[in-house]
Amino acid sequence: MEHDVKDLSLADKGELRIEWARQNMPVLMAIKQRFEKEKPLQGVRIAACLHVTTETANLMLVLQAGGADARLCASNPLSTQDDVAAALVKKYNMPTFAIKGEDNDTYYKHIISCLSHAPHMTMDDGADLVSVLHSKRTDLLKDVFGGTEETTTGIIRLRSMAAEGVLKYPIVAVNDANTKHMFDNRYGTGQSTIDGIIRATNVLLAGQYVVVAGYGWCGKGVAQRAKGLGAHVIVTEVDPLKAIEAVMDGFEVKTMDDAAKIGNVFVTVTGNKNVLAKHHFASMKSGAIVCNSGHFNVEIDIPALEAMSGKRRMIRDFVEEFNTNDGRKIYLLADGRLVNLSAAEGHPAMVMDMSFANQALSAEYMKQNHKTLKKQVYVVPENIDKEIARLKLETMGVHIDKLTAEQEKYLASWQEGT
Ligand SMILES: NC(=O)c1ccc[n+]([C@@H]2O[C@H](COP(=O)([O-])OP(=O)(O)OC[C@H]3O[C@@H](n4cnc5c(N)ncnc54)[C@H](O)[C@@H]3O)[C@@H](O)[C@H]2O)c1
Repeated sequence: MEHDVKDLSLADKGELRIEWARQNMPVLMAIKQRFEKEKPLQGVRIAACLHVTTETANLMLVLQAGGADARLCASNPLSTQDDVAAALVKKYNMPTFAIKGEDNDTYYKHIISCLSHAPHMTMDDGADLVSVLHSKRTDLLKDVFGGTEETTTGIIRLRSMAAEGVLKYPIVAVNDANTKHMFDNRYGTGQSTIDGIIRATNVLLAGQYVVVAGYGWCGKGVAQRAKGLGAHVIVTEVDPLKAIEAVMDGFEVKTMDDAAKIGNVFVTVTGNKNVLAKHHFASMKSGAIVCNSGHFNVEIDIPALEAMSGKRRMIRDFVEEFNTNDGRKIYLLADGRLVNLSAAEGHPAMVMDMSFANQALSAEYMKQNHKTLKKQVYVVPENIDKEIARLKLETMGVHIDKLTAEQEKYLASWQEGT
């Protein structure tokens, strides 16, 4: 079986960690049981480009249980858990192409390897695999009937491909499901970003000024968790509505020009580029820590930081010290890549349970419906979204009320209301 992973002897450890995550993914496991019986993905070749984590491993096993011929590569050079990649190959017979810390050439070589079984479906996180398929491997497009996309940034890229008429098959935007972004982005990225910062630096957040750039779903989560640990949180935004929301949630809102002078820890989660730029580094205090949890490592202008620094060294794992020419120290975490997946383990399984339930059910939906779909980006059907919320509550032992017949009638009627 084809594969390229760091070290197969890590497989035992990976298998145990995959099992540990599985215990917190009851919704996904319920789907797996049904897939084992019904085989809804029988014979479907799936190329998945996802963060190679314990939770992703469980998703891959659900696809396999559903009859898919699936393979996996990394969606980020730093997010791979090497023991998980080894276990997928050795214990579960899953062709996997991912090594933590791989260089850019290897990253793209792995995407090509993942595509080399001529997939019918793609499952992407950030749209790098889709982009390779539409540029370097267009010969494979004839077999592809659909795909799914996990994250905000990927969906933005795909929507612009669809708008330009270059997207060659329909894709379901998993991130747009309520049971994905309202929980995964907010609580998952929120907690794991703080986890990544703490694991990398062991910094005490209480009493520190933490600057969060972007108050979208992820930024809200990071800001709230940092506040919970006692930090003074400053939010920067470009959208007036999000900025008001941040103000009313009790955060200080400033421009980055102003925040740069105050912050001790900076986190970018905007999906945009150069949010921390040269003039911001120029006014930062010595000792400032900068990191990113947005999808690509373009949110921090690292070349600018390099250009204004002399000596640089790795002072701890995932912590690079830049000595600026004017005598300050600025610390960059995890190469400016997703800090939660590089320096910690990414989102907890309990929240990925819902995200990956959306992936599995969207793959099934795509298999069943692709013939009637256009070459567009589609939202996850509402019935899937609601069903995942219902199942999640059930597995949490939480019960909610039902509308009475009288209430249903009241809500449906425009004549009521007096
Ligand atoms: N780290 C992870 O595990 C993880 C998980 C989910 C999503 N993501 C990624 O995180 C990023 C944000 O995702 P989201 O779901 O929060 O998106 P979102 O669209 O909900 O929020 C992004 C926010 O950033 C703001 N913004 C844009 N440019 C800005 C700038 N220059 N300065 C300040 N604010 C700016 C926007 O106005 C918006 O409110 C995306 O790249 C997404 O793919 C990462």
